Amino acid sequence: MYRLLAAIFVYATLVWQPLVAQTGGGGSASPSRISLRTGIYDPSLDAKVEALLHKMTLEEKVGQLVQYSAGQPTGPSTGRTDYEDMIAKGQIGALLNIATAKETNALQRIAVEKSRLHVPIVFGLDVVNGFRTEFPIPLGLASSWDPPLVEQVARAAAREASASGIRWTFAPMVDIARDARWGRMAEGAGEDPFLGSEMAAAYVRGYQGSRLDAPDSIAACAKHYVGYGAAEGGRDYNATEISEHTLRQFYLPPFHAAVNAGAATIMSAFNAINGMPASANPFTLQQVLRKEWGFRGVVDSDWEAIGELIPHGLANDGPTAVRKGFLAGVDMDMASSFYHDHLAQLVRSDQVSQARLDESVRRVLRLKFALGLFDHPYTDEVHEAAAMLRPEAISLARTAAERSLVLLKNTPGPNNPPVLPLSSDVHDIALIGPLADDPPNMESLAKLDRNEDLISFRAALSKHVGEQHLFRVRGADITGGTDEDQAAAVAAAGKADVVVLALGEDTGMSGEAASRSKLGLPGRQQELLEKVVATGKPVVLILFSGRPLTLPWAFDHVPAVLAAWFPGIQAGPALVRTLFGESNPGGKLVVSWPRSVGQEPLYYNALSTGRPPELANPPDDKYVSRYIDEQNSPQFPFGYGLSYTSLRYGATEVSRNHLKASSLNAMLGTGGVQNPALTASAEVTNTGSRAAEEVVQLYVRLQGTSVAQPVRALKGFQRVALAPGETKRVTFALRPDAFAMWNDRNQFAVEPAKVSIWISPDSAHGTAGAVEIVP
Ligand code: BGC
Repeated sequence: MYRLLAAIFVYATLVWQPLVAQTGGGGSASPSRISLRTGIYDPSLDAKVEALLHKMTLEEKVGQLVQYSAGQPTGPSTGRTDYEDMIAKGQIGALLNIATAKETNALQRIAVEKSRLHVPIVFGLDVVNGFRTEFPIPLGLASSWDPPLVEQVARAAAREASASGIRWTFAPMVDIARDARWGRMAEGAGEDPFLGSEMAAAYVRGYQGSRLDAPDSIAACAKHYVGYGAAEGGRDYNATEISEHTLRQFYLPPFHAAVNAGAATIMSAFNAINGMPASANPFTLQQVLRKEWGFRGVVDSDWEAIGELIPHGLANDGPTAVRKGFLAGVDMDMASSFYHDHLAQLVRSDQVSQARLDESVRRVLRLKFALGLFDHPYTDEVHEAAAMLRPEAISLARTAAERSLVLLKNTPGPNNPPVLPLSSDVHDIALIGPLADDPPNMESLAKLDRNEDLISFRAALSKHVGEQHLFRVRGADITGGTDEDQAAAVAAAGKADVVVLALGEDTGMSGEAASRSKLGLPGRQQELLEKVVATGKPVVLILFSGRPLTLPWAFDHVPAVLAAWFPGIQAGPALVRTLFGESNPGGKLVVSWPRSVGQEPLYYNALSTGRPPELANPPDDKYVSRYIDEQNSPQFPFGYGLSYTSLRYGATEVSRNHLKASSLNAMLGTGGVQNPALTASAEVTNTGSRAAEEVVQLYVRLQGTSVAQPVRALKGFQRVALAPGETKRVTFALRPDAFAMWNDRNQFAVEPAKVSIWISPDSAHGTAGAVEIVP
């Protein structure tokens, strides 16, 4: 009976897919839209799982819940590396961090041929922004505002990784990141839950493909569940305080979107939320994930997060840490070896029930069946090399890099056109800065950097303009450099028509365990920048970084600035095509760009205060919410990005001025989120002379509600192609959930409210249309 109901539920959720492109609230209490195609929800797996489970000993069951990093000692408690023996005994269910077909096959052979029940291993890896073909870092990919592109990138990564036997990626990272000090901002889609949800779903679709058991599909793992990005002070692994309201409205939606897209696994995070570590948190792991969302996949701990329950202060010994983590809902222990050491004994002593153990083992077996590992445990070693760096993947890497670039500034000099794109009068270019020619630091966060795959900016520029026209001087190292280096840079600038400066962070300054308390240019790069600008030559600054950098001087003095993030292996060609106008930058910021570190955490979808500065009366009234030494506004708002053309937005028009909360709630309640509540549209005109793709954004504000709502919240976006002179009316069909919110009872519902709707180029501009929601 249960199975029949489950099948009906899954079928029903499948046919609820929206019929037209619509836009809504981004993660909501709306019913799951889990797809059968992902495999873990396939009811036909149940019988296979049960039959195998039935044959397993207690130790073999525990083994399925144990994951180690190949080649590294098994956590603090054992220090073991004798995996081959452990695999043969059925003591390991998953391994991570091996990345060649030869190695995965060799270990798989032991599992399949030597272990008693022949249960295959699932091999995992952080396949984050590509495998062999490295794409821009996720922060850059998100800046494209192009989910179909992101889906293709994830598909390409899955094809390569699976050819090496990796069938599980610890990606996407869907943590909301509001604080640029936190280095892992680089790995996600920024600060917004709506955009983050769209990106989360796109990654999952791309990694998992149309069938999880296709040989080139890999299971996705939405991480780090949850609140990891809210680390206090931006310091990695730090505690978080997040109210249930804020958790539901901002931090959970991208995870919910990943689950709805069929993500097979979730990773529990390191951080504590309101005192309770996320890897031992029954509220997030059971109440929300399992009960409310119906997630049936595997919850994997983050690296040693079960063992870390001791330093967290939640346990004083291993057995207690395991009991708390496991009973809270963590199925698999990554790397700490605590489940291996203590779980069987906890079951024997009835501190963990056999039924609870079976539940987790079922999930892991289900994942392996869904991936088709029992039928096809090995990868084809002969095919492996041919799967890497295929021409279509390389060309996708260039497109992705171009789309990830955000043009922050491009001003004309006196009586001059903007510096970018470079005019054909430019002959001699001084290329200055440590990041022009530094493959390991231009590429990405990927674990398998192969520097030879990357075409550096210098190489591509030299090819384009000719070596004789390129004056290449490093000028500084990323973290140091000499006066002589700087003098040489100034001399080169003096001889050139244009200076291109490639400055920024190295890749190790963002990502995990790379929080910064200062967000300027490291080392002597600021000094170098100022000296080069003092030559009076037109300067283009290309910033490489995993986060926005606070560079107020640069934004005041440098005429053209391009945020490149870390663009991946096609960094050079993408940047050169953009400099010379063969590609027109269309990326927009997915994080608010701070003026100074003291503004962090900084995010556009903030609450108003009772004393917003815009209501100050008189305007210089002191007693409003602001700094006495800094503006409130960011340097560049969320959603911001320039183009080589100019754009004009018309007024936002709405199809209705009144909506009824009761009708919208009825639609939400029945899962009928496919019906638009209203349409909003605006004319967007390309007033310049170049074709462009503009990311048109739609924001909503609700006022008069039971819980204060953000001053703006993104509810839709479209990347629209516009020929020179062309006008398009861009229309958004807004679903009821676009007007819903988590209310004072922590329910997702529409309330009577005054609604403002902006269709705008970013989160800080545009004229609003007005709607009223009546009871
Ligand atoms: C990170 C995870 C990652 C894991 C495996 C951890 O340190 O927090 O994001 O997936 O290592 O590499």
